[in-house]
Order: sequence, then C-alpha cells, then structure tokens
Amino acid sequence: MADIVAGIGISHVPALAPFLAAQKPRTPAERGPGVQAFFDAGDWMREQQADVAVLIYNDHGAEMSLGLVPAFVVGAAEEYPPADEGNGVDASLPPFPGDADLSWHIIDSVVPEGFDLAVAQQMAVDHGFRIPMGVLFGAEASAVKVVPIAVNVVQQPTPSARRCFQLGQAIGRALRSYPEDVRIAVIGTGGMSHQLQGARAGHINEEFDRSFLDRIVTAPEELADLSNADYISLAGSEGAELVMWLVMRGIMNTDVDAVLSGYHVPVSSTGAGVVAMTNR
Ligand code: DHB
Ligand code: FE
Repeated sequence: MADIVAGIGISHVPALAPFLAAQKPRTPAERGPGVQAFFDAGDWMREQQADVAVLIYNDHGAEMSLGLVPAFVVGAAEEYPPADEGNGVDASLPPFPGDADLSWHIIDSVVPEGFDLAVAQQMAVDHGFRIPMGVLFGAEASAVKVVPIAVNVVQQPTPSARRCFQLGQAIGRALRSYPEDVRIAVIGTGGMSHQLQGARAGHINEEFDRSFLDRIVTAPEELADLSNADYISLAGSEGAELVMWLVMRGIMNTDVDAVLSGYHVPVSSTGAGVVAMTNR
C-alpha cells in the first residue's frame, strides 16, 4: 500500500533559491533558525526516500492564460517541462517525470466524490512548482516522480480555504487506497504573506504567518474557516496562496506530529516559511 511519508508546507518565492544558495557557505548558527529550517527541511525530505511528490502549487499566468484558469487542475502526464515565465525556457532544465498512474487513481477517486477537476495531460510548471522541488530535493529533484496539482489563487473567484481542505481530504482517501508500494511526499506551496501589487504592495504580516505555521499543524480547521477575504486582508492578495497548504493538510491525518518549522522575513518581498509534519 502507499505510504504518506511527509507533509510539507513551503513558500515558492523565486528568490528563495538564490537566497538559500547565498546562505549555504554559512554555519547553522550564522544562518539562524528561521533560515536553517529550510536546509533541515531539505535534509529531512531526502531522508524520507519518497518515490513520488504530490505537489500543490499555482500557475502564475505562465502556462495558463489568465483568461482561463480552472479552479483545480490535476496533472496526468508522463512528464512536466519547465514553463516559460517570460525569459524563454532554460533548455538545461530537465522535465519532472510524472506518475500518471497515481494521477489517474486520484482523478478516478475524487471526481466521483464531487470534485470536478480539470485534467492536464500536458502541462509546463512554473516557479510555484520548481522552487519547492529544488529546495526540498536539490539535485535529486528530477529523480522523484511528481503529481502536480494546480489551484487557482490568481483570478477571482478562487476556491475557498474550506474547499481546498476538503479536496485534500478526498485526495488523502485516494492516496490511502492506492495499492502500489510507493512512498509519497505531499507538499503544499505558496505564501507566506505578501502583496506584489496595489496600494498595499509590500504588505507582510509576520504575526499571522507565525500563527499560521503553528495552526497548520495543530488547528487546520481554524485556517479552513477563514474566508478568502480574510486571507487577502491578513496575508495580502498573493498571500492568499496559503490556502494551498490546506490541500496538503487535508491529505494528512487529523493527528500529525510536527517535524520542524521555520520563518524568515523577508525573502524578496515575502514572508518565507516552511513546516514539516508526519502522520501520527
Ligand atoms: C514572488 C512570486 C511568487 O509567486 C510568490 O509566491 C512570492 C513572491 C516574487 O516574485 O517576489
Ligand atoms: Fe506565488
């Protein structure tokens, strides 16, 4: 049977990669605990020996036209090449290998439950997907099979935190009924608080972010109860990406054990956080 070996929430801000690369030569003490947590998350992730990563992210208008953004898209492709984010595609980047069998198992399980997902048999993935894979798996990123799940957090109306949590619970039931012996890591990405546009550009809410890092482990129902307007007002218009962590949390068991968490502010103009947990 499939085994869910890790649940992780992590920012996907593009600047995280160069930021961590610059921190690499420093000692853990020099980095400080908030930054060290990102390195620890990568070490821990690789120790879990996951065969597949189910990664929840959002496309930022690179692959999906902003005129056509499905609420939820499950990738069911053999591979996922990098998206063109405006500077052309870096031909040196390998595609991520897909696990189409697991994708179809998820689709065939959750659609009859009432989640009318869009299915992508061809999909390029942008930084929302690639940055967390790089931070967590490093050079091994292209050796792990993936199931990308894209959530609309960019064009109103976006799915609610509650709906994201419920989708996660349905995917969790699907994963637990998957007969193959695979080790699955579940990764929710985005946030934390940030706003890249409008009068509140630069908005960061460290207090909310730190409370979110605690509550995603211990009180996810509270986070699922917040409205999208709450997320935008507390975490900023793009900080509303945090609803994607609730898909991950819904997949995990009700009771989980915290492994690590960390927070550093700012990375670019974003509160950057990471949390890892295991099913109890
Ligand atoms: C930035 C982009 C993101 O997608 C995000 O989630 C946070 C920050 C950025 O470009 O700075
Ligand atoms: Fe983003």
